[in-house]
Amino acid sequence: CAQVATNVVEQKHTVSRAKRSRALGSRAFRGSTVWLTGLSGAGKTTIAFALEAYLVSKGIPTYALDGDNIRTGLNKNLGFSKQDREENIRRVAEVAKLFADSGHVCLCSFVSPFAEDREVARRTHTDSGFPFFEVFIDTPLEVCEQRDTKGLYKKARDGQIKGFTGITQEYERPEAPELVVKTVGTSIEESTLQVVRLLEANGIIP
Ligand code: PPS
Ligand code: MG
Repeated sequence: CAQVATNVVEQKHTVSRAKRSRALGSRAFRGSTVWLTGLSGAGKTTIAFALEAYLVSKGIPTYALDGDNIRTGLNKNLGFSKQDREENIRRVAEVAKLFADSGHVCLCSFVSPFAEDREVARRTHTDSGFPFFEVFIDTPLEVCEQRDTKGLYKKARDGQIKGFTGITQEYERPEAPELVVKTVGTSIEESTLQVVRLLEANGIIP
C-alpha cells in the first residue's frame, strides 16, 4: 500500500491568474481544459493537434497533452488495466488543471474509456472554477478498425494486446458531453472548427 503524505499545507500563490495571463501575452484569463475522449484511432490526437496549431496561430496560449506522449514520460509506469487507466486520467487531469491555472487552454486527448474517470477529470477542474469541455470524438469502432493507423486493432484481434478498448475492454460512451464530433464524412478542418466554435460560444476565445 502506497504511503500517503501527511502534514501538507496548501501554499497560496501571490501572483493572480489575471497577472499571469498578462505575462503570457493574453488579455483575458482563458485557462480551461478541452477533454477529447474516444476510441483508439477515432481522431483525438489529429483534432487536438490541429486545434493547438489553430489556437497558437491566433495567439492563444495552448498546450496539448496526448496519451501516447504522456505514457512515454510522466505515466510510463502505467499500463492499460482499469486501475492504471484511472491513475493515468487522474494524473493527467491534475496536470491539465495546472496548465489551466497558468492561463493555457489545455487540450487533452486520451481514450479515457471510463465515465467515472472522466467525471474525476471534470470535477478536478470545476471544483477549482476552471471551465471543462468534454468532447466526444464519435467515430464508429468499425471505422477505427478499418483505419487501424497503428496496426493495434489487428494486434488486439490476434490476441497480442490484452484489454484493448473496443475489442477486449469496454468504452463507455459519454452521456452528456459538451460536444460530439462525428468524424465520418467530416474533414479534419471542419471537426476542429466545431471545437473552436464551442470555445467561442463559451467566451474562452474571442
Ligand atoms: S487511456 O485509456 O486514456 O488511459 O489511454 P491513453 O492514455 O489515451 O493511451 C491510449 C494510446 O495507447 C495506445 N494503446 C492502447 N489504447 C487502448 N487500449 C490499449 N490496450 C492500448 N495499448 C496501447 C494507443 O496508441 C492509444 O492511442 P490512440 O491515439 O487513442 O490510438
Ligand atoms: Mg492518438
